[in-house]
Amino acid sequence: MYVCICQAVRDAEVRQAIAAGVDDVDQLGEQLGVGVSCGCCREAAQTLIDEHLHTSSASPCQWHKPN
Ligand code: FES
Repeated sequence: MYVCICQAVRDAEVRQAIAAGVDDVDQLGEQLGVGVSCGCCREAAQTLIDEHLHTSSASPCQWHKPN
């Protein structure tokens, strides 16, 4: 699935960049071009970042997340 139509960037590429340490949309823009044209994809890109951060910091307690 394309996250960024303007730059033809797929979710797999975005997830790969996030897994490599990218943690904000501006960095995705610098690396992949996400969000630098029309900007329509910025929210979707942020959702992918948030999902990664949420799942990678999984804690057995929903109230106390590791920092
Ligand atoms: S859809 Fe990503 S910049 Fe336009």
